[in-house]
Amino acid sequence: LIVALSAAGAGYLIGSLPFGYLVAKANGVDIFSVGSKNPGATNVKRCVGKKAGNIVFLLDAIKGFVATGWPILLAGESFHYGLIGLVFAVLGHSFSLFTRFRGGKGVATMLGGVVALMYIAALVGVLVWLAVFYSSRYVSLASICLAISLPITNLVVGSPATLTWVSLALGLLVVVRHKENIVRLLKGEENKFAKK
Ligand code: G3P
Repeated sequence: LIVALSAAGAGYLIGSLPFGYLVAKANGVDIFSVGSKNPGATNVKRCVGKKAGNIVFLLDAIKGFVATGWPILLAGESFHYGLIGLVFAVLGHSFSLFTRFRGGKGVATMLGGVVALMYIAALVGVLVWLAVFYSSRYVSLASICLAISLPITNLVVGSPATLTWVSLALGLLVVVRHKENIVRLLKGEENKFAKK
């Protein structure tokens, strides 16, 4: 129980680290008031710059990887504590302790944790993201498809049921966090990332 509680608490704190907000702020931008107003890598790339966006993606993914990885290392073969760390990291990222419970949509953080837990699902998810993004130029649509692909891959490769169910729940959370993007996609008003 102590490991489970520590995985949850540490996961929430690590996930709460508002890298998107901080990197944008260091560049003089309040990320909550520009672009899509989302403190994620996509909006930082959109409103601050490519390099800043890439740094935020990497840091947010590392949050998920660390929050998921340390309980697995500590608790040996059981991946359940890693799952707890991952779920709480995504919740921390989405409802951050340090930014009055505002936060991002959880895509990079979830992906970082999935790399530690179920790398095949992560690999398939990245391929899905690339295929959808390069055919549509919509980051949000690519992220939603990635989130949906995770439980499907787990089901197909016969992962333990807990992994499949938790990835379904996380995937749904990420889809729900994209509700404004979904409305814009349906209206044909979603922002496209232009070809360079
Ligand atoms: O990960 C967030 C991305 O899918 C969409 O970001 O800023 O376009 O809402 P944004």
